[in-house]
Order: sequence, then C-alpha cells, then structure tokens
Amino acid sequence: MKAEAISKLQDTIALEERYQLATYKKMPLVAERGEGVWIFTSDGEKYLDLYGGHAVAGTGHSHPHVVKAIQAQAERLMFYSNLVYSEARARAAEKLVSLAPAQLTKAFFCNSGTEANENAMRMARMFTGRENIITFSGGFHGRTADAISATFLGKYREIGKPNVPGHIEAEFGNIDSVRLLAQENVAAIMLEPIQSMAGVKTAPPEFFRKLRELCDERGIVLIFDEVQTGVGRTGGWFFAGSDAADGVVPDVVTLAKALGSGVPVGACLVNEKISAGIKENDLGTTFGGGMIAMAAVTATLEAIEQDGMLANVKTTEAYLRERLLELPAVVAVHGRGFLLGLEFSDKAAPIHKALLERKIITGTSSDPKVLRLLPPLCLKSAEVDLFVTKLKEAVSA
Ligand SMILES: Cc1ncc(COP(=O)(O)O)c(C=O)c1O
Repeated sequence: MKAEAISKLQDTIALEERYQLATYKKMPLVAERGEGVWIFTSDGEKYLDLYGGHAVAGTGHSHPHVVKAIQAQAERLMFYSNLVYSEARARAAEKLVSLAPAQLTKAFFCNSGTEANENAMRMARMFTGRENIITFSGGFHGRTADAISATFLGKYREIGKPNVPGHIEAEFGNIDSVRLLAQENVAAIMLEPIQSMAGVKTAPPEFFRKLRELCDERGIVLIFDEVQTGVGRTGGWFFAGSDAADGVVPDVVTLAKALGSGVPVGACLVNEKISAGIKENDLGTTFGGGMIAMAAVTATLEAIEQDGMLANVKTTEAYLRERLLELPAVVAVHGRGFLLGLEFSDKAAPIHKALLERKIITGTSSDPKVLRLLPPLCLKSAEVDLFVTKLKEAVSA
C-alpha cells in the first residue's frame, strides 16, 4: 500500500471517529467506489461484497440504470412534497403494485424500514380499533419507539425503554403460542418471514397458512416485515404469496433496504380491506414519495427485471449450496435465495474476520455460530467460487 493511500485511509478513519457518535463497530476499510458485487477502497483494494451494505445493494453497487435515472430526476426536480402529483411517484407506485401479489393494491411511501413498520402497525390499530401487536422472539423491526418495542431480540428492546405498551411476544414457528396470545384487543400479528438478524431462522410454509387462518378468524391484521426478504432477495419479488409462505398474502407488506438501491426509501403495500379506511392525514411524512427516491424505486425494479436477477438468485443459490457441501465446517445453510445463514460448529466471528482479511465482506448475526450472506442479486458462480476458496482458507486459519 502506498504511503499516500495509507494516510488517506487513516485520515478518514480518524475524522469519522472524531466527529461521529461511536455507535457502530466498523470494518477497517474506507469504501470509495462500488460496481456490482465489488467495493473499491481508498487504498486501492477490491472487496467482494457478500453483505450488500446490509441487504441494500440488491441491484449491485451503482447499477448504471439506477444511476442514470437518479441523475436525470435530480436535474429535473429533486423534491416536492405529497401535496402535488408527480409522474415519478405515479410510475413507482404503479410498478411496485404491479409486481406485488394481486391482493396488495395500494402503496404508501416513507423513508426507512422502521417507519414502514410504524405505519403498518398504525394502520392495523386504525382498522381494528384495537391496540395490541403480536410479534416474535428473534424478530427485528427497527429502532423507532413502536418498532423497537415490537423487537424481541437481544438488547434492542432495552435500548428503546420506556417501551410502547401493548407489544406481545410469541414463539416464531409455533402456532399454538400465537393462538394462546391472540385473544382480546389484538390489532396485528407482524413478523419477519425469515428472521435475518436472529441468524436467518425460517418457519415451515404451514405456519404462515395457519397465521392467515387465525387472523381471518379473529379479525386481526397480518403484516409481513419484508424489509429484508422483499424486492427479490429470496428469488421471487416478495416472500408474500411464495411457495415458502404456502401462497399466503398478508394484509400489509413493509419494504425498505433494497427498494431504492441505496437511496433511502420505505413502503407499505396494503390490501383493499385496509386501504379503504385510510383517510387524509391518517399517515404522512415530508420526504416519503420524494422524486429522487421514486426514480430510484422504478429504476431498481426495472434493473432487477431487465437483468433477470430473480432467476440468477435461484441458480446461484443452488450453486452456492452445492459448493458449500465441500466444507464440513458448515453444518447447515439456513434461509432462501440471497438471504442465507451459514451455521458453523463453532463461533463465526473469527471466520468473518479471516474472510475480511481475504477481502470478502460478510455479516455476522445475533447467533454467534451463524455468518450471514446478503449479497447483491447479481452475484454469479465465478464469485461464489472465489468465496468458497477464501472460506476454506478462513476456516483452516
Ligand atoms: C427486518 C427488518 N425490519 C426493519 C428494519 C429497520 O429498517 P431501517 O434500518 O431502514 O429503519 C430492519 C433493519 O435492519 C430489518 O432488517
């Protein structure tokens, strides 16, 4: 590494450390440029990104179609609020709804995953006139007051004290635990259909079918938090309506992360039953539905479509699973599509570190034995080969 590059890297790190709150445990690299599945650093290194900036870079880093759309929109109009109509917003809403399961007919745009979940819970309370929300141990739903109170994972709820009342914890995958708790005053059942942060935990398709039946029977709103699973990550546009959900479509799907390829945007997709009751001023946000974010949404969805990324996720997932069989240290592969948890017989953190030293970015999880992969949807088999080679080295290191 050249002296100039070292000082630039160290200067940047020192400046961030000095002027930013110390809220993140960071990797010792300065991301300068991205292209597809690659991140280029300020010291001239190249990293294979299997973490996708926390599942955000679905289309890959700086996809040309998305970049062009954002540039063109920025030159035309960067922002105007929801008090005017906008072609960019009209097109994004139409495109998103057209790809969603047929029952989900309306979109509400906001700025992040936590905000999408807050609005989904609010809609459920408005629709039912009830207050309580059932969520699941291991689920993560965000860091704002209501969403963090719905999060029964590790330290998060504690951070959010005092919690919003009326949040109830059920056991993921156990329909009897839900049935017992879904008594009076329950407005919604909300879940991550694949619990990512918990270590990529899945539930069988019949669990989703039984949840749907329970909600229908008791007039409860069913919400899928697809902030991670949505927008192609599991090899279909959404988990909702997929075979993994036994075809079940919830009343509300929440989205964020990959939806704008890095431009902050969240959304709720809502069925007719819920949307019929929503009136002026019931929900709102200044930046939600802004033109740059909307141009990014449309271009993101088009890029996934045009590049055949959904099919790529399926074939590359199958190839990756096959190659992982060569590694006895990987005792199980959890998840679906490009939301995968590699379970090791021992702690995953040293492997995460050894991979980073070999220029591969992966993610840890709250399960110490599980390493998470959330790569861009354009990851190909040649890059899988590179990863497997480096993983073998990392495991023996
Ligand atoms: C499943 C899930 N829901 C909600 C959120 C919160 O999203 P955001 O950080 O955009 O508020 C996250 C973030 O990691 C998430 O993984």
